[in-house]
Amino acid sequence: MRPRAFLMAVAIVAATSAACRGRETSDVAAAGALPAVRNPIGPIPGGGKPREQAANPFGSDAEVARQGRQLFVVMNCSGCHGGRAGGGMGPSLRDQDWIYGSSPAEIFSSIAQGRAHGMPAWGTRLPDQSIWMLVTYVQSLRTAHEPDAPR
Ligand code: HEC
Repeated sequence: MRPRAFLMAVAIVAATSAACRGRETSDVAAAGALPAVRNPIGPIPGGGKPREQAANPFGSDAEVARQGRQLFVVMNCSGCHGGRAGGGMGPSLRDQDWIYGSSPAEIFSSIAQGRAHGMPAWGTRLPDQSIWMLVTYVQSLRTAHEPDAPR
């Protein structure tokens, strides 16, 4: 055998055995012995990871509450929660009852991730800072520094 033909033969054998190995692997996967997809792509269902930031960076800043109030109107939160957040198609945010919790982190999650029964997720539309402004406004409701409080 000439060296060139020999090299060719080696290459063909190598290629065929690689192909066979590939087929073997997928046969095993089809039989369920190997996970078909090792690294699932996209969101993994289940409880979302709690946000690392638990405290509202704006605290109870009255100016931020005012900006949050503007966002509340501009983003049409008021369309579902009422003009003064007193409730509508969505629950009242000014009463004492909370479905998903009243802590800053829980209110943040309600807004950022949405909630099952009709609350849209805003986390992909609003930066975290704007969501914290909304949290600041929601937390100002029924307090002395609530902007545009109902009379
Ligand atoms: C399409 C209507 C709709 C819009 C728009 C909407 N919400 Fe909601 N929201 C709801 C509904 C309905 C719920 C209750 C969801 C549930 O019970 O699972 C809710 C729940 C909430 C909660 C949790 C209340 C609790 O008791 O725990 C907060 C906080 C909240 N919304 C804030 C906002 C803010 C801030 C905006 C604007 C950025 C907004 N929502 C826009 C319908 C809406």
